[in-house]
Amino acid sequence: MTESQLIGASKEDIDTPALLLDLDILDGNIARMAALAADTGIALRPHVKTHKSPLIAHRQLAAGAAGVCCAKVSEAEVMVAGGILDVLVTTPVVAPEKIRRLISLARQATVGVVADDLRNVRNLSEAARAEKTTLDLLVEIDVGQHRCGVAPGPAAADLADEIARLPGLRLRGFQGYHGALQQVVDLDRRSADIRQALDLLLESANVARRRGHAIEVLTGGGTGSSATDIGFHGLTELQPGSYVFMDCNYSRIHWGPDGALVLFGNAISIWTSVVSCTSADRIVVDAGWKSASCDSGVPILKAIDGATFSFAGDEHGKLSVPEGTRIAAGDKVELVPSHCDTTVNLYDRYVCVRNGKVEALWPVAARGKTQ
Ligand SMILES: Cc1ncc(COP(=O)(O)O)c(C=O)c1O
Repeated sequence: MTESQLIGASKEDIDTPALLLDLDILDGNIARMAALAADTGIALRPHVKTHKSPLIAHRQLAAGAAGVCCAKVSEAEVMVAGGILDVLVTTPVVAPEKIRRLISLARQATVGVVADDLRNVRNLSEAARAEKTTLDLLVEIDVGQHRCGVAPGPAAADLADEIARLPGLRLRGFQGYHGALQQVVDLDRRSADIRQALDLLLESANVARRRGHAIEVLTGGGTGSSATDIGFHGLTELQPGSYVFMDCNYSRIHWGPDGALVLFGNAISIWTSVVSCTSADRIVVDAGWKSASCDSGVPILKAIDGATFSFAGDEHGKLSVPEGTRIAAGDKVELVPSHCDTTVNLYDRYVCVRNGKVEALWPVAARGKTQ
């Protein structure tokens, strides 16, 4: 079947392995996050590292997002080329060649970047000044993740002082992101930890404001902290990524004090075929490590209760199904990935489905854009 013949075909006819995207669930997730943030005064700046697709970013903007976050300059280049004209790069950009590309983007769109290093800030200023452009700068603050970021409080304000002083830069505010808290399962625990991280960001903003800086942007947060961050009203911008697709790890977290699950639906899945079934305990599918990421565990099978998946090689996976399950070579099954971001990056395109029919093929345009 050619690519164009695929449009309108039934899901059963899609060759495997393939990355399916359920458009109804996608649109529902985008609408739900937009509704959470609506009328709160907190802007949504979704992180496109999850989907790497300008087409999906446009849907998020149409639902009210103020701009997008990108993890890397190359991802931002794909977004700007795709017509997304307000991007924040949420990882420091340090190499001279990347700084040059970032500045070139800043001439085409509103571009911001985070920084946590004085020399880096000076290099960014120099490059922006040489190209007669202005770059938005946000100080990245370590709010507990202990990855990138300057210490909260006076150290953050010191870097803000420098940025405000240097030509070619516009100090916009602070970023504080704590990824490790996003998937804390218990809502009360997660909320308490997020409050602590947010307080570090707010305290830093207060120090900088007392020094006369207009700290307009406080950006951070993700899917797991979204409802809590919005409730606390400390951030000016929220950066959720995974909510568009979700994955089985994220689906475990509680959204209500009573342990309520699933605020967002699983929009992507891996469509895979049984290629060998020589005995009841040898059910082999054509999806292995090259079709599903394994950094966060194994995918979960949709539709067959009690069945499990295990990796059995680069191109192979094994299913274990309850006794009596009817399954044979040629059958197709759907897996929910354990981590959406790293799984998406394994595919060239989304096969977009609605009500069991293929509606569109969308490229994963920023696939492999890790620079
Ligand atoms: C800086 C930053 N912001 C936001 C996100 C989005 O987080 P999530 O996918 O948990 O919504 C990420 C994800 O890694 C991130 O690194």
